Amino acid sequence: MKKSIQRIFRKKYKTIHDDSFLKRIKATIIGEGMLHEGNIYLMDYAIRHMPDDGIVFEIGSYAGLSTNVMLHLLTKHDKKHMFVGCDAWIYEGFKDHTGIIETHIDGKVDVTRKEYVSYIKQAFVNAASLLHPNKKPHTCHLTSDAFFEQWNANNEFTDVFDRTFSIQQEISFGYIDGDHSYEQTKKDFENVASKLKVNGFILLDDSAKHLHFGSSDFIQEIQQHDAFKIIAHNPNYLLQKVKE
Ligand SMILES: C[S@@+](CC[C@H](N)C(=O)[O-])C[C@H]1O[C@@H](n2cnc3c(N)ncnc32)[C@H](O)[C@@H]1O
Repeated sequence: MKKSIQRIFRKKYKTIHDDSFLKRIKATIIGEGMLHEGNIYLMDYAIRHMPDDGIVFEIGSYAGLSTNVMLHLLTKHDKKHMFVGCDAWIYEGFKDHTGIIETHIDGKVDVTRKEYVSYIKQAFVNAASLLHPNKKPHTCHLTSDAFFEQWNANNEFTDVFDRTFSIQQEISFGYIDGDHSYEQTKKDFENVASKLKVNGFILLDDSAKHLHFGSSDFIQEIQQHDAFKIIAHNPNYLLQKVKE
């Protein structure tokens, strides 16, 4: 194959090879298109280099693909960090931005949004119970705003497995993949940053330069922030907090 053709087919981002579980997981959990392979590489980096204590925190779990990838990487790298997350389990319709909010899912009038999100939430519970029965995530059915409100008030949480818990530590790695509007991305970033340990990481989904999401607009702003250093873009951005 000529060099120029090889270049076209070569991936422009780094991925993890030789991990049979990661190969299998895409066919096991709903939502393959939701998790960029480059994110997995960055998650692996963050998990290997994050501070020794603290929690791993996720906003936006959907059916559990990213959650189970991170749980797997925690085990693989022998990290004992508690995994905490939140999802509002909101159905985001293709036409919602036009102000027309339908009660059913796109293209299927006999399936309500309520039924759909309850199916996705159940898929999350099933996937974590099957793949990480001894390391189930402390993921709560809450919006990210409600989650931080509860955290700031030092309240107890109840996760989707009906376990109550409280958080005694700061965040060592935060993955933000919830509402991708500029306003909510900024809010989520600021909330996670306020609880992030120095040397901790934030991975912001859909922040790649070529994308047109609020999250990619927001990343331009964060580049000016001297408390954060860009570790990599692959193509989404991994940032490290370098000072308070
Ligand atoms: C792109 S999906 C997450 C995909 C998941 N991280 C994965 O890789 O499988 C976005 C999720 O964010 C949730 N979400 C949207 N707005 C939210 C909010 N304000 N707070 C918490 N979760 C939210 C949605 O319910 C949806 O499940």
